[in-house]
Amino acid sequence: MSDTIPNLAGQRARYLEAQLKFFKDGTRKEPGAVSRAALMNAVAAQLSASDISNLAAYFEAQPGAAPGAKSALLPNIATTKMAFPEDYKQSFTKYHTINFPAAKEVRYYYANGVALTAAKAGKPLPDGSVLFAEVYSAKLDGSNNPVAGTDGFFVPDKLMRYTAMEREASWGDDIPELLRNENWNYAVFTTGKQHQQGVNQAECLACHKPLSNVSYTFTLRNSQQRSKYALHQSGGGQISTKKEYDAAGVFGDGTHSDCKHSIRPVSSACGGKSNGRKQL
Ligand code: HEC
Repeated sequence: MSDTIPNLAGQRARYLEAQLKFFKDGTRKEPGAVSRAALMNAVAAQLSASDISNLAAYFEAQPGAAPGAKSALLPNIATTKMAFPEDYKQSFTKYHTINFPAAKEVRYYYANGVALTAAKAGKPLPDGSVLFAEVYSAKLDGSNNPVAGTDGFFVPDKLMRYTAMEREASWGDDIPELLRNENWNYAVFTTGKQHQQGVNQAECLACHKPLSNVSYTFTLRNSQQRSKYALHQSGGGQISTKKEYDAAGVFGDGTHSDCKHSIRPVSSACGGKSNGRKQL
């Protein structure tokens, strides 16, 4: 249990079983890019009917915890092996930018040479790949709305944090199969380049897990994999956005189909603005 993980001990098996089934078949879903349900959808989808009834029976048999009790996060999952990539400004390539209207943020996405070379060659991202994002708050106008620049992207105000993923040999070894993303580890860094306290890597792994056929990445795809997905209806372009996010159970509400959310590469419907994605 934590602030984001509910206490299941002692809950009725019938209730738990029903909820797990609803997560699995998508009946229980929440809108938005970072919904808690997306994590459960991803994990429950991997459970068989008998896994589900066993889990429900197991939790029902546990004694209930005191209100407000917290358990430690599993150390081998919560702890990341990734270190801050000190030289990213010099050696990584910026390949993507996304506006986040609800969070009033703009994020810049970088990839290292290993990841880019593989993506260009249409290969899965190998060990040694690093993807990295700078998260900025957007500059706000008098009515607290993000100010967009001439390129359509929010004007960055303050650097808030960094989020990152890196894969190296054996980094996935300690991670249970239900969560494991091959050898990827995930990390959030403070503006002081330290690991942000309280980050539970299990959440990152769960949400990226359904993207196993595209190297577990949402924004960087190799060309072969990309071409397998339909072009976005009105956006057209290289990243399969909505369709695949839907498949991953993430952007079920169509967050990415409005013009303000510029994940789409180029769209005449959105004034023909590029989303800043480099052609790979
Ligand atoms: C609820 C789902 C969800 C969770 C949880 C999640 N991500 Fe992601 N992640 C996404 C989506 C969607 C994107 C696409 C662009 C974006 O939202 O930034 C993404 C993109 C990324 C990227 C850019 C590379 C890529 O895959 O396109 C990194 C790096 C990343 N996430 C790291 C993390 C880390 C670190 C955590 C855990 C602290 C995490 N993510 C948790 C959904 C999630």
